[in-house]
Amino acid sequence: MRYADIYQSWQDDPEGFWMKQAQAIDWVTPPTRALNDSRAPLYEWFTDAQVNTCYNAVDRHVENGRADHTAIIYDSPITGTVAHITYAELLNRVASLAGALRDKGVGLGDRVIIYMPMVPDALTAMLACTRIGAIHSVVFGGFAAHELAVRIDDATPKAIIAASCGLEPNRVVAYKPLLDGAIAQAKHKPDFTIILQRDQLPCDLTPGYDFDWHAVQDGVTPADCVPVSGDHPAYILYTSGTTGAPKGVVRPTAGHLVALHWTMKNFYNVDPGDVFWAASDVGWVVGHSYICYAPLIHGNTTVVFEGKPVGTPDAGTFWRVIQDHKVRSFFTAPTAFRAIKREDPEGLLIKDYDISSLRALYLAGERADPDTIIWAQNVMQVPVYDHWWQTESGFPMVGNPAGIEALPVKIGSPTVAMPGYDIRILADDGSEMPAGELGSIAIKLPLPPGTLPTLWQAEDRFVKSYLTTFPGYYETGDAGLLDAEGYLYVMARTDDVINVAGHRLSTGAMEEILANHPDVAECAVIGVSDALKGQLPMGFVCTNSGTSRSDDEIVADCIRMVRESIGPVAAFKLVAVVNRLPKTRSGKILRRTMVSIADNTDFKMPATIDDPAILDEIRDSLRPLGYGG
Ligand code: COA
Ligand code: AMP
Repeated sequence: MRYADIYQSWQDDPEGFWMKQAQAIDWVTPPTRALNDSRAPLYEWFTDAQVNTCYNAVDRHVENGRADHTAIIYDSPITGTVAHITYAELLNRVASLAGALRDKGVGLGDRVIIYMPMVPDALTAMLACTRIGAIHSVVFGGFAAHELAVRIDDATPKAIIAASCGLEPNRVVAYKPLLDGAIAQAKHKPDFTIILQRDQLPCDLTPGYDFDWHAVQDGVTPADCVPVSGDHPAYILYTSGTTGAPKGVVRPTAGHLVALHWTMKNFYNVDPGDVFWAASDVGWVVGHSYICYAPLIHGNTTVVFEGKPVGTPDAGTFWRVIQDHKVRSFFTAPTAFRAIKREDPEGLLIKDYDISSLRALYLAGERADPDTIIWAQNVMQVPVYDHWWQTESGFPMVGNPAGIEALPVKIGSPTVAMPGYDIRILADDGSEMPAGELGSIAIKLPLPPGTLPTLWQAEDRFVKSYLTTFPGYYETGDAGLLDAEGYLYVMARTDDVINVAGHRLSTGAMEEILANHPDVAECAVIGVSDALKGQLPMGFVCTNSGTSRSDDEIVADCIRMVRESIGPVAAFKLVAVVNRLPKTRSGKILRRTMVSIADNTDFKMPATIDDPAILDEIRDSLRPLGYGG
């Protein structure tokens, strides 16, 4: 069948389509129906089924004769380690940790926060939670104590599983002080922690509260898989919204299993047994779906890579990993390729490696710029597929369905809608835009299985954030257009979310931090273009008159405060001190105009601007930072 036939078969009978895909999953009690629309426009899938995620990702492969097949390859150029973990070994590890969690009182529906670097034990921890029906929430290691504290208070976890440290190329990141700081800051106090001690920086453990990863598992009876209902949350993953409070995206168990399994062959074009590599981090949705769950559910080998595209040790590291582990399909963010291209513009390092195992490169997480796509095509000599999705969807919404049929690539477009997604471009009044015209990208409800049914304990916010602007549709927060052949072009965000090196960040959250500086009277944060990271945050602060501190001191404070509060991943290093901010007559800060000035692109003078002369002041303040033309 061709892509168009498959998409049509889904459109004709969505219920039948998803029930058929559900046959790839091992159920305790199979679903009798797919969609539950009893609370429309809030939809759920496979609610009458009973199933276990971990069983489908691990146990069933062991039971089906693939115990000795490699489940995980851990490749850490930072520590010089390569390790292979079979499905049987993974099962032992997961069941043992799950047993320890169970013995310490963690059960069905309890939350567990996981704060770990890119080590295979992070996957063990995720799977151990889903094994016993506990709901994990992984927090990216590049977030600081405050962000962790916010998530502790929202998820109210019974336990936290962490490592003693993470390893960045230039430094060892001590996790324990961040963890202790977060627990101290949070109102909610978890019952206990489990700490994986790493040789590079072991930490002190508080007796009776912090338990060593290995010691806590001593003599434990391994835990069996606990069946959960299809709509039980497998995990919560926090993502940036417009305000400082992150959104707790809920991932429903059954839909997650069904949808992820479907993507591995139809989209990423791998068969069970093939090696699949997503060079991302378990702290992001890409890591959840395509480092941990989907490859394991589908019976692939997944690569856990602890390194960076450059500097660990050089810009050839990706080629080495592809060669050494015979990677079949490879997924990363465009920024990683921009980093490699910057270090090795001619792509000379690839000549030292044999990457003939590779069938295609998949890019997502941010806009894939044409230069990067063309460079990757030329250097790697494989098809390069851009695809578009978000934390909320959990799997590709738009892409090139290479496992069904490789459609012609149009550079600049992530290609076409996947089954399950009816993508529309809407005007502000909700009417549909004609082909080729820009509008808000929305998806006709219901969203497919595996997508978020709600936000964690925030149904009102879910409805307000996603379902209210365009009744009957899910609002993606992205703007773009569809061409006459149904190819989507994603152009920009419609909100204040920015994308820094494939990491989704909230400028609103940064503004809240800057506004707390005692010498800052007013502030704004925007995302400006950056050749490597796509976007970088840039702060503008107006200082209080009469402050005794110099502008340089205030700028340094602002940079430090954002780093200490959100974390180094925010890459917040650009701050301009200005006398006033450009505003409309009603007092709204003209952030988009400021972005145009910083990027030195054309813009239309806003009709409602209060005082156009401020724009020249803004441009002047940007020049020392290398922006504004
Ligand atoms: N734990 C602690 N700190 C972390 C971290 C982690 N897991 N991840 C990043 N950081 C820190 C970095 O050390 C850096 O700190 P610094 O300001 O002290 O140098 C800062 O956060 C920014 O990190 P990063 O975004 O990685 O930038 P970089 O300049 O170190 O590297 C790239 C640039 C392009 C190589 C890097 O961003 C990259 O590999 N991007 C791929 C993106 C990706 O996989 N995205 C996932 C979505 S698919
Ligand atoms: P995240 O939830 O962190 O995965 O970020 C999702 C957001 O990243 C999307 O809403 C887009 O703004 C952006 N994004 C992801 N993939 C793409 C892509 N292929 N092209 C353009 N933007 C993308």
